[in-house]
Amino acid sequence: VIELRATLIVKLGGSAITRKDRVFSPRDNVLEIVAPQLRELVEVDKESVIVIHGGGSFGHPVASAYSIDKGYTNKGQLLGFSKVKRAMLVLHLKILEALLEYGVPVAPFSPSNFVLTRKGVPVNFVVKPVKETLELGLIPLLHGDVVIDVEWGFYIISGDQLAFELANRLPVKKVIFGTDVKGIYTEDPKVSERAKLIRVIRVTDKICVKTSGEEVVDVTGGILRKLSYAIALAKMGIPVVIGDITESEGLLRLVRGNEKECTLILP
Ligand code: IPE
Repeated sequence: VIELRATLIVKLGGSAITRKDRVFSPRDNVLEIVAPQLRELVEVDKESVIVIHGGGSFGHPVASAYSIDKGYTNKGQLLGFSKVKRAMLVLHLKILEALLEYGVPVAPFSPSNFVLTRKGVPVNFVVKPVKETLELGLIPLLHGDVVIDVEWGFYIISGDQLAFELANRLPVKKVIFGTDVKGIYTEDPKVSERAKLIRVIRVTDKICVKTSGEEVVDVTGGILRKLSYAIALAKMGIPVVIGDITESEGLLRLVRGNEKECTLILP
């Protein structure tokens, strides 16, 4: 039996890969920046990588319009489920194409096909195909998704949660949460000039983060939820790096530990 090499998980945040201010608009330039770096991580750094992307202006507005994040309450939402799936799959295909353009051997996975939750906690999470795919040398590409929840009807599982769930089931060495800002700030850097980047967070730290009320629609809980998954991962001994992947070489610097302007979450 060959032990699976510890894997790097890269989450491409919706704010980095889509324009959150405009519905259904990918940031093609960011995809073009990220794709060759993923290839380099595999070919040069010999990393075993799982990529997860968020919903951004594809998943969130549709999920919100149908209150999918509130669970199943009425029949009209059934069409909403289909539309959220469609939105995520359209974005998924765009990312698949961008990665293929740069010769990244990627294997697309859609979580609602292999994840079932109860009150947001997976009761089924069929990780074996992902694991075997990875072992073969492919890069599994997953996305935040709407899944069936046996208690709530629907549940939106974020890419951040997927990273956490994978780390509970596979040997994971590091998680990168790629976004369009340098990391976690003391307050929202997009609205406040006083915002200061928090460079290191220890799981034992008491931290104070002020979020702005002006956040764009985010059905999975925004920055605080992201931080709680990052801390949960760090508690498992897996370091998490939150940083900017919209600039060239940004992802490589975050993975290689060469980026000073980011937030490290450590055990
Ligand atoms: C959301 O995934 C998926 C849906 C809305 C269906 P994420 O919560 O990971 O997306 P981002 O990164 O915040 O956009």
